[in-house]
Amino acid sequence: MEIKKIAVFTSGGDSPGMNAAIRSVVRTCAYMKVDCVAIYRGYQGMIEGDFKPMDARSVNNIINKGGTILKSARCDDFRTKEGRKKAYDQLKKEGVDAFVVIGGDGSFTGALKFNEEYDFPVIGIPGTIDNDIFGTTFTLGFDTALNTVVEVIDKIRDTASSHNRLFFVEVMGRDVGHIALNAGVGAGAEEILIPEENLGLERLLESLKRSKASGKSSSIVIVAEGDKIGKNVFELKEYVEEHLPIYDVRVSVLGHMQRGGAPSCYDRVLASRMGVKAVESLLEGKSNLMVGVQDNKLILTPISKAIKGHTKIDKELMRVSDIMTV
Ligand code: ADP
Ligand code: F6P
Repeated sequence: MEIKKIAVFTSGGDSPGMNAAIRSVVRTCAYMKVDCVAIYRGYQGMIEGDFKPMDARSVNNIINKGGTILKSARCDDFRTKEGRKKAYDQLKKEGVDAFVVIGGDGSFTGALKFNEEYDFPVIGIPGTIDNDIFGTTFTLGFDTALNTVVEVIDKIRDTASSHNRLFFVEVMGRDVGHIALNAGVGAGAEEILIPEENLGLERLLESLKRSKASGKSSSIVIVAEGDKIGKNVFELKEYVEEHLPIYDVRVSVLGHMQRGGAPSCYDRVLASRMGVKAVESLLEGKSNLMVGVQDNKLILTPISKAIKGHTKIDKELMRVSDIMTV
């Protein structure tokens, strides 16, 4: 089937670099002389027919912007057959032949279901700060989030060292510790608590004792939000103050600020490359694939694998972190 019109939308949690990817998809369509239409609010907008034709100029001045100009939404209707039927009817009415979805594994699962039911060509671009998608070394937004987190922890370090305090800093990562581990090494954290490896409360106390004994006056412990130690950061503060009264403990939960802000150069470049690859792949007749990057080369992974697979934590980086905290 000849593809004459491609739709692009963002879905699930926003991430820096999504706008750069939208821009790339729209401009690649213009370059290839294929019509392009944007869908607002993800699958919700698809069901409601919230479409807008896009040309090369529609995406001026967005490469540097965080968030997503197309908005994002969580849409329960799309989880139902009836909802997906409505979405299909809207796409057909608009004359859309294929779509590029920028989002996480939930959004990809929806795209795959839609393809199974309607044989509709779909390509995914991974956009999430968590970097938890199989089939790519980097998701859009991860690098930016790391830079944001490191910048903030640098500031926390100033006050931690001025008061000889211990800080528990909670970072995002619903199920994975990639942000915690990378930002932890980059910011020189004393300990890094991630879901992939449960340090245990005893070892945490031992580590903090050792740190004090080695002459350190302040410490930063990074905790991924999905960590499995069994206590949240506030409970950890109480626990450590009770068992190690030498420590004056404070807590900082970084929250959604990690998801915002201008994308880093790396994320802008990656988004631009992925957008081109996504449109080219559709025009070559490909479907059900996610664009990823590995060894700085773009690769395509079946969406079915991207959804099922799990990312692995970087063991070498964990070792580096251990050595740095000697
Ligand atoms: P992310 O894409 O960041 O993982 P979500 O998990 O919230 O975000 O998924 C985004 C949207 O994708 C959901 O609101 C829903 O519309 C759609 N979606 C997710 N899972 C499914 C599913 N199993 N079937 C159909 N649609 C789904
Ligand atoms: O998936 C990205 C992420 O930022 C997670 O780290 C976090 O748990 C989640 O989104 C929060 O999502 P929301 O507040 O949008 O529900």
